[in-house]
Amino acid sequence: MEEKSVEDIPGVGPAIAEKLRDAGFDTLMSIAVTSPMELAEVAEIGEATAAKIINAARKMVDVGSFETGDVILEKRKDVMKLTTGSKRLDELLGGGVETKAIIEFFGEFGSGKTQLTHQLAVNATLPTDMGGLEGEVIYIDTENTFRPERIIQMAEGWDLDPIEVLKKIHVARAFNSHHQMLLVDKANELAKEKTIRLMIVDSLTAHFRAEYVGRGALAERQQKLNRHLHDLHRFGDLYNAAVVVTNQVQSRPDVLFGDPTKPIGGHIIGHTATFRIYLRKSKGNRRIARLIDSPNLPEGEAIFSISEVGIRD
Ligand code: GTP
Ligand code: MG
Repeated sequence: MEEKSVEDIPGVGPAIAEKLRDAGFDTLMSIAVTSPMELAEVAEIGEATAAKIINAARKMVDVGSFETGDVILEKRKDVMKLTTGSKRLDELLGGGVETKAIIEFFGEFGSGKTQLTHQLAVNATLPTDMGGLEGEVIYIDTENTFRPERIIQMAEGWDLDPIEVLKKIHVARAFNSHHQMLLVDKANELAKEKTIRLMIVDSLTAHFRAEYVGRGALAERQQKLNRHLHDLHRFGDLYNAAVVVTNQVQSRPDVLFGDPTKPIGGHIIGHTATFRIYLRKSKGNRRIARLIDSPNLPEGEAIFSISEVGIRD
């Protein structure tokens, strides 16, 4: 089926199409599921016109229908679980990091977010009987903290050939938030050739936070972030991959206000991420993980450690 574009909607000329695209409404689906009020505001058109465009878009796409629970259960049968390296942390997550889900690790600097993403990248290459996904990994690095040297140590921790592991981790540095979003499109291309079972974005929010500063920019930031998360979700669903993102907490040493336990991006990520795990430092190399909300698991905590060979109990 040929993909229709925004311009194909009756009543949408080039000028409106451009406004829609700028606001992140670049697919028929995104328009079909929005409200006339929101569309009117972003595209600077009347609400009646917006309603007409939305109705037209709804006729052109399948906005979905209802499925019975047993069908959803069947679809969830191919969900796989990836070990973190720590049995306790795996238990907290109900057996490990799930594919077809977004898992957010948030916490202050040094809480272990980047260490965990490195470990998960290595583990995803392991055979399934060792808790791996027998797959390859896409790693979007926004803070230039990906270190192959650390991957080598962790691969050696499982007696794997480090070079073979490194060959399965596809790393791209994202220079700004726009680039970061583009890299998800690129990832879709790569996933057609390789069996990608894990997508990592470390950090999900750093660029967005740095670029959209002040109250006036908040709405746009959230809209873009929302769009990005939907793209990530879609990737996970399409390729049966786990999507792991990291996020810092709001307090910074140079700012006196802000809740030290609140993740950046607030409710947008909260509603899109399937699992949210709050990480905090404990004594030495110990870290405490707290599961914040999950659709089917109780809240709880797990202690793990960061060692030379990686994440362990
Ligand atoms: P930000 O990105 O700054 O927000 O922090 P983060 O949460 O990503 O922290 P990160 O995962 O980089 O954790 C850094 C901590 O991991 C260091 O303070 C060390 O305690 C620990 N660490 C890193 N490398 C090693 C290592 O090779 N051996 C051991 N034992 N610990 C390590
Ligand atoms: Mg980090």
